[in-house]
Amino acid sequence: MSDIKRVGVLGCGLMGSGIAQVAAAGGYDTLVRDVSREILDRARAGIDRSLATLVEKGKVPAPERDAALKRLTFTTTTADLRACDIVVEAVTEDLETKNALWRELDGLCPPATIFASNTSSLTIAAMAAATKRPDRFVGLHFFNPVPLMPLVEVVRTVTTSDETFARAFAFAKSLGKAPVAAKDNSGFIVNLLLVPYLLDAIRALEHGVASVPDIDKAMQLGCGYPMGPLTLLDFVGLDTTYKIAEIMFAEYRDAKYAPPPLLKRMVLAGMSGRKSGKGFYDYSVTPPAVSRLGL
Ligand code: 3HC
Repeated sequence: MSDIKRVGVLGCGLMGSGIAQVAAAGGYDTLVRDVSREILDRARAGIDRSLATLVEKGKVPAPERDAALKRLTFTTTTADLRACDIVVEAVTEDLETKNALWRELDGLCPPATIFASNTSSLTIAAMAAATKRPDRFVGLHFFNPVPLMPLVEVVRTVTTSDETFARAFAFAKSLGKAPVAAKDNSGFIVNLLLVPYLLDAIRALEHGVASVPDIDKAMQLGCGYPMGPLTLLDFVGLDTTYKIAEIMFAEYRDAKYAPPPLLKRMVLAGMSGRKSGKGFYDYSVTPPAVSRLGL
């Protein structure tokens, strides 16, 4: 049983808002912090929509949805998270941005508060070292869409104490998730394997192996994957994937993590995938059309 009562969530993009939703649905008072009211309002609306879908599908009873929404609070003030028992960070994949927040909270939160990062590709060690609580620092890596994907990677770095790891593991379980233990290597388990696959799909497209829909169809129908790799890239976000690839390439110096030029061009053009309306597919039309990529 988790001894955690109040959960803080730093950042409420795609991942942070999903984490806030499952924390509130899991019975925790949940305080979400982001930089503007506009972003917070967008996250609240997304959580409302997701919970409404789950109620419609009979997966969450309406009174539970109402109770979850009551447990959610939104703020633009990082210091408001000072009374949280665990803080889960899901801000942009940039070490300095993350560490500035960790340093601020380190001076405010009580000693027992666990710091947990949802980083996709940075090491937990690089954040734990910026605080005076490296023993109370873990990775809690969720998957998109957070309300539906059962997995959480619970990541132990060299300094993480057994107690912190056990509390974080129990917390993930209490959210109805299926946690697995992972060591603190960049990408943990899933992204270590998934990222080269996604980047290879872009390389296949660059090399003219097949069209966008045929690459997706091949992996969906040939391997039974729920989404093809280019659809999944749009879903995860091309900007996020680009950052992840850069970080993993810098860590391993292995060409399989190098971001393909096409990915960079698309990010520069503002094609971040589904969230921006355009990636490998154009979501401004229904059903989505294949984007023109100048190949
Ligand atoms: N909240 C609530 N319900 C949702 C939802 C959300 N955010 N998103 C979708 N749903 C519901 C739909 O309403 C639908 O309900 P129904 O089956 O009862 O009708 C159900 O989920 C299935 O949705 P769809 O019919 O629209 O689509 P799919 O059957 O394709 O399922 C999916 C959607 C679960 C996202 C599935 O396509 C899938 O598993 N895709 C792969 C996702 C994946 O690989 N995620 C990991 C990404 S990597 C990552 O996150 C790590 C990071 O570090 C990069």
